[in-house]
Amino acid sequence: MCGIVGYIGHRPAYPILIKGLHRLEYRGYDSAGVALMTPEGKLNIYKTRGKVEDLERFCESKDVTGTLGIAHTRWATHGEPNDINAHPHYSASGKIALVHNGTIENYNVLKEALEMHGCTFKSETDTEVLVQLIEYIKESTGCTLVDAVREALKEVVGAYAIAVIDTENPDTVIGARKSSPLVIGVGDGETFLASDATPIVEFTDKVVYLNDDEIAIIRRGEPLQIITTDNVPGEVDIKTLKMSVEQLEKGGYPHFMLKEIFEQPRTIHDCIRGRIGNTGSEVTLSGVIEHKDKFMNARRMIIVACGTSWHAGLIGKRLIQEIARIPVEVEYASEFRYSNPILDERDIVIAISQSGETADTLAAIQMARKCGAFVYGVCNVVGSSIARATDSGTYIHVGPEIGVASTKAFTGQVTVLTMFALALGTLRGTIDRETAAKVTGALRNLPALIKQTLKLNDTIEKLSSTYTYVHNFLYLGRGYNYPSALEGALKLKEISYIHAEGYPAAEMKHGPIALIDREMPTVVIAPNDGMHEKIVSNIQQVKARGGSVIAVVTKGDTTIAEIADHILEIPEVPDIISPIIVSIPLQLLAYHVAIKKGCNVDMPRNLAKSVTVE
Ligand code: G6P
Repeated sequence: MCGIVGYIGHRPAYPILIKGLHRLEYRGYDSAGVALMTPEGKLNIYKTRGKVEDLERFCESKDVTGTLGIAHTRWATHGEPNDINAHPHYSASGKIALVHNGTIENYNVLKEALEMHGCTFKSETDTEVLVQLIEYIKESTGCTLVDAVREALKEVVGAYAIAVIDTENPDTVIGARKSSPLVIGVGDGETFLASDATPIVEFTDKVVYLNDDEIAIIRRGEPLQIITTDNVPGEVDIKTLKMSVEQLEKGGYPHFMLKEIFEQPRTIHDCIRGRIGNTGSEVTLSGVIEHKDKFMNARRMIIVACGTSWHAGLIGKRLIQEIARIPVEVEYASEFRYSNPILDERDIVIAISQSGETADTLAAIQMARKCGAFVYGVCNVVGSSIARATDSGTYIHVGPEIGVASTKAFTGQVTVLTMFALALGTLRGTIDRETAAKVTGALRNLPALIKQTLKLNDTIEKLSSTYTYVHNFLYLGRGYNYPSALEGALKLKEISYIHAEGYPAAEMKHGPIALIDREMPTVVIAPNDGMHEKIVSNIQQVKARGGSVIAVVTKGDTTIAEIADHILEIPEVPDIISPIIVSIPLQLLAYHVAIKKGCNVDMPRNLAKSVTVE
C-alpha cells in the first residue's frame, strides 16, 4: 500500500519522481504528491487527491525545479483521500517533509504527547505525527536530522518505509524501513529510493534492499551510508537487478492486465525453465533439495496466503496431498496469525505471495518461525521481504505483475506448487515414475496449451456484452477447479464491481440455488474429469430454474454444448493442470466484462496490489 520514491543527483528530480510514481501506482492511487528542494534551498510541496496524472496536471504551472525530492502515491488508511491527507506531510515550521508507506499504530498516543507540547495538526493521518515528532526532537534537543529521525523511529510502533528531506540539510535524503519495503538505487553520482525497484531500473541495476530497523543516509556526492535505529553501522550490500524496462511497459496492449494475460505462455515457460528437463520426470527445485530432510520428515504443511495467492494455495493443498500424501491445511494469513496455532519444528509453513510484501503473510511467517516451524516461500518479487524472511523457497519468475488483479502470478504460483508437489512426491516415494512423467510432460506442454486457450479471446469479448449489466454472478467448480471458481469470481468482482460468488458445484443446492433466476448467470467449470457427469446435473439444475450458463468445457463436449447457453472450449488436459488452463478464459471474461462497463481494470477502485498494512 502506498508507493514512495526519492531522488538525489544531477538531473531534474521532478520527471524521475513522477515516472517513478506511475510505476508504483499499482500500490495505491487515491492521492499523490511531491516535495522538491529548489536550487535555492526552498521546499516546494504539491499534493492532490486523485491519481498521479492529476498531480501532473496540478503541477503544470508550478515551480518544479530541483535535483532532490521525494514523492508518494497513496492508498488511504488514516483519513479520507483528500488534498490535506495526501503525502508528503510537513513539519510545523515547513522545513521537514516526509512520505510514508505503512501504519503507525501508536499515532494517537504520540499525537496527544505532541499536542501537549503545543503542536497542532493539519491532517487526520498517522504520518503527520511522525514528521512533527522528528521536528520536535530536532528542535528540542538540537540534534542532527539523522539522530532526530532515529530517535523518532524508536518511539514508533507499527510499520513504515519513509523518506525525509529538510531545508536545513538541503543535500540529504533519509530513508528508513520496518516491515514495509524500501530499495535504494545506487547510480553514478545519483541515488534513488523507492518502494520497489521499478522506478529505479531504467537508471541503474545496482540496488540495496534496506533491512528492518535500518536507516539509509544519502548525501549528495557521498557514498550511501546505512545505520540501524540503535546507531550501529549497517552493511551496504549491493545487488544486481535482473529486471528490464520493457517488462514494465504495456508493450502495445491497452492495459497491463491484458498484456499479463497474454504473456502467460512465456511466463510459464520461464517458471518451469531449468526446473523440468526436456524429457523425463525429474523436477529440480533447489529450495527443496537443499532441505531434503525437512521435507522428507514433515508431519504436515500449512499454507498461508491472502487473496489470489490463497486460491493458489487451495489448489496447492490438493496437489500436495494427492501427489506427496502429506496432510495440508490452508489458512488466510490474517486469520492464522491470530489463531494461536499449534505448530512446531515438524511442521512446514508454505507462504505464497506475489509481491512478497503482504503484511499479514509476513506476520504469519514470523510467528511460524518463532514456533520453530520451517518456512518455505513461493514469491514473485525477488529480494522481497517474504522471500528474505523464509528458510527456503521457489520464485515463480513471471516478471513484474502490474495490473492490480493478479493473473500471470496465479498461474505461476499453481505451476510452482505442481512442481513442488512432484518434487516432494518423488522424494517421499509417493508417486511412481510413470505418473510423474505424465505430469511433467503436461507441465512442459503448458505454454503451448495456454497459447491455444488464448484464442478464446474474441469469443469471450463478444460474449461479454451479454453480461455487462448483470448484478450478480455465480461460479461453480469441483475438485481442482473449486478454487478456480473462487478465483474466477474474485477476478470479476475486483475489476467489474459485479458481485460474484464462487462455490463448490455440489454445494449449490445448499443455498446459492435460491438466488438463481434469469438475472443471475452461472459460470460452470466443467472440463472432462471424474466429476463431469455430476457437474452436468448441476448445469441442469441451473437451467431448470431459468438461469443462463456459461460453461468452460473440454473441446468436443457435446453433452454440455447442448444444455449450456455458451461454451468456452479448452484443450484436453490432465485434471492436475486443468486449473491453470481454466483460469485463462475466466481472466478474459472478467477483463472484457469490466472493459464493457467502462471500468479501470488496471486500477480498480479501493484496491491496491501490495497490501502492506493489516
Ligand atoms: C491484494 C492484491 C491481490 C493479491 C493479494 C495478495 O489484495 O490485489 O491481487 O492476491 O493482495 O497479495 P500477494 O502479493 O501476497 O500475493
